[in-house]
Amino acid sequence: LSLISVTCLIVEAFGASLPKAEINNRKFPESFKWGAATAAYQIEGGWNEDGKGESMWDHFTHTNPSVTDDKLNGDVACDSYHRWREDIQLLKQLGVSVYRFSVAWTRILPTGYLDSYNQAGVDFYVTFVKELLANGITPTATLYHWDLPQVLNEQGGWLNDSTADRFGEYARIVFKNLGPYVKLWSTVNEPKSTCMLGYGDGANAPGIKQIGTAVYQCARVQLLAHATAYHIYHNEFAAEQEGKISLVIDSTYNEPATDSEADVEATDWETQFNLGWYAHPVYVGNWPQIMIDRIGNRSALEGLPKSRLPAWSAEELEFVKGTHDYFGLNMYTALRVSAIDEPEIGDSSYYSDKGTATSFGADWTPSIASWLVVYPFAMRGLLNYVWNNYNPGEIWVTENGVATNATINDQFRVDYLQGYLSNMLDAILDDGVNVAGYTTWSLLDNFEWARGYTQKFGIISVDFTSENLTRTFKDSAKWYQRTVNTYCLVE
Ligand code: NOJ
Repeated sequence: LSLISVTCLIVEAFGASLPKAEINNRKFPESFKWGAATAAYQIEGGWNEDGKGESMWDHFTHTNPSVTDDKLNGDVACDSYHRWREDIQLLKQLGVSVYRFSVAWTRILPTGYLDSYNQAGVDFYVTFVKELLANGITPTATLYHWDLPQVLNEQGGWLNDSTADRFGEYARIVFKNLGPYVKLWSTVNEPKSTCMLGYGDGANAPGIKQIGTAVYQCARVQLLAHATAYHIYHNEFAAEQEGKISLVIDSTYNEPATDSEADVEATDWETQFNLGWYAHPVYVGNWPQIMIDRIGNRSALEGLPKSRLPAWSAEELEFVKGTHDYFGLNMYTALRVSAIDEPEIGDSSYYSDKGTATSFGADWTPSIASWLVVYPFAMRGLLNYVWNNYNPGEIWVTENGVATNATINDQFRVDYLQGYLSNMLDAILDDGVNVAGYTTWSLLDNFEWARGYTQKFGIISVDFTSENLTRTFKDSAKWYQRTVNTYCLVE
């Protein structure tokens, strides 16, 4: 009798303890895919090995170590470039069927240009995905998880339209070589974070802090890059390789602070200025109308440069629209939104154009949960929002998880995952949302960008002080192992 075929109540009866009252005791569908996620710069290390070129994150952290909280960088990280066989065994031990990882652009094309082609980089990933498959784990690959080749960065990076063409060339090489093994692709991971943090607030590479225009141009180029890779895949590879490809968008779930009309309206703006910014062009066509109206009007009123939100040509609109085979969703938290009378015009970001947001969630204390707010209903709410507004056919929750300082006994994370997954199950079973799979963030504690190693998202701990970067299952990994093996949220 396979564990998957029995009901969750039977699984529960075999378990040592009872599930929490509020936890769902129904089963996930048998077709549901469980997985874990990571990204190249956050785990690989080997930053200049075997022909790899410098990425903008290598450059950013090397030039000014204080860009990260602990002044550390991803030069070694979890050393997965050398320890990947061990990582695969951890995945196998967990029992997940999917691994979401990212390909480092600079291993494939060290400068970002075709003439820098690096066979050793291609070979590394081919060997890696074959080994995953040999261990019964399906690889899903992200093409861009924030590590732009530094040479391209110096030529304007995500503010330069031609970066979209370079991305297409890189993607073609990856499809050609990894496509026989990888059937689920994502193009660009979290374009909003890339643009907001990299070209608005400057906390992430390339560290550009700019008022008002760069973030919108970055968004445009990332969407063009995504669409370029999408079309290359569909025109040249999909017929034979039979995979799916989409963008991965991050979003909070937003609720009005009160049910006043103003707060409800502000909540919609918040959603449009974050989720809609990227989802609208791809799933509907064009930017959300509220962005066109408000940014345009405000720009004129405040004497800011005109066209802060670049207009699409008819051809570009057509090129970007419909470039999705599923909806890749990264979700962690929720916001409570209230309207404000006086928008902060001239602020460094698009926040100036919408209502203000406050944190939601009584459980939150900065010392255990870092900057995230735990609000399990956010999962159900956001899945329904995406399902109803974008009609994507299939959703993958490509990231979800929480940072906590607990090294091994991370009950806080167990509770978080239980609550969010329980709400995901409600969305699947009660609301009819087709969630095909879930890759939790993250398999390992890793380099958390500007936070360095101070924020730990792994269900498996990495002892960064030990010679072997020892990996140890946390309680949450043990809990997740039970979940993925039984399809039930018990204990
Ligand atoms: C978003 C990013 O995709 C990932 O790189 C990051 O580590 C997590 N979420 C947590 O912040």
